[in-house]
Amino acid sequence: MTTHSTAAQRWRDDLASWAIPPEILAAAPEDPWIHPVEMFAVVGDVPDSPSHAMAREALPEGGSVLDVGCGGGRASAALVARAGRTTGVDSSERMLASFAEAMSALGLAHDEVLGRWPDDEAGAPVADVVVCHHVVYNVPDLPAFLRALSAHARRRVVCELPLLHPLSHMSPLWARFWDLERPTAPTADDCLAVALESGIPAQLDVWDDEPFEARSPLTLEQRAHHLRVRLCLPAEREPEVLAALVEQGPARHRRTATLWWDV
Ligand SMILES: C[S@@+](CC[C@H](N)C(=O)[O-])C[C@H]1O[C@@H](n2cnc3c(N)ncnc32)[C@H](O)[C@@H]1O
Repeated sequence: MTTHSTAAQRWRDDLASWAIPPEILAAAPEDPWIHPVEMFAVVGDVPDSPSHAMAREALPEGGSVLDVGCGGGRASAALVARAGRTTGVDSSERMLASFAEAMSALGLAHDEVLGRWPDDEAGAPVADVVVCHHVVYNVPDLPAFLRALSAHARRRVVCELPLLHPLSHMSPLWARFWDLERPTAPTADDCLAVALESGIPAQLDVWDDEPFEARSPLTLEQRAHHLRVRLCLPAEREPEVLAALVEQGPARHRRTATLWWDV
């Protein structure tokens, strides 16, 4: 039995438990750990949310934003009416290009930093508000990651994350196609525990967000394709994944957490 001496260690171990079993990975025709850029692009107006409101509240008129793991820039786009400048940090060049395109289209002054947080934090400026949406389930060493966010904020840090691991919605599909039970930890509450243990005075607000699928205009066929790749299945099984999606019916709202603190 695994023993976790700290919340940070538990977070790391629980994340590791999401690894795909080696025998399934060996059967994968493509790398299953995909992050399609089109899933995170800014499309139309970004609906307001408790996370955006929390960031706006601390942002002075014309103030600066640092968007860590910015993807296509949704968290920055939601602050366009108040922000004077935003800097996107991302480890993916293609995501940063999507971010830059979206910010230019919105008329918001922007900079990009290509790098992995916190390893490349030195390349990023200090900003009035730091936002970091949908990144932490990707981060095994959470204390260092959160402290670096704090070190770059003049006023407030706002992280957004689903209450449950973002791949939890695939658990029924793993059971169906591979007879594999997926983990249920860590959760946003575990993230809060790591923050508090790390000396960060964070608070967690939980609310219902729209289904993730409502964000991007992907067809059911495109979603089935991404899921088929993530499930380590060969292309000829894509129709079965599509059938499973149709059977599941429309996605439900997603319990989402805003983890925030003032610095
Ligand atoms: C799930 S996407 C979320 C994008 C965007 N924040 C949003 O809410 O739509 C996660 C993004 O974080 C980036 N990322 C993950 N870990 C990172 C790290 N340690 N440093 C920098 N970027 C990271 C990925 O490349 C990806 O663009």
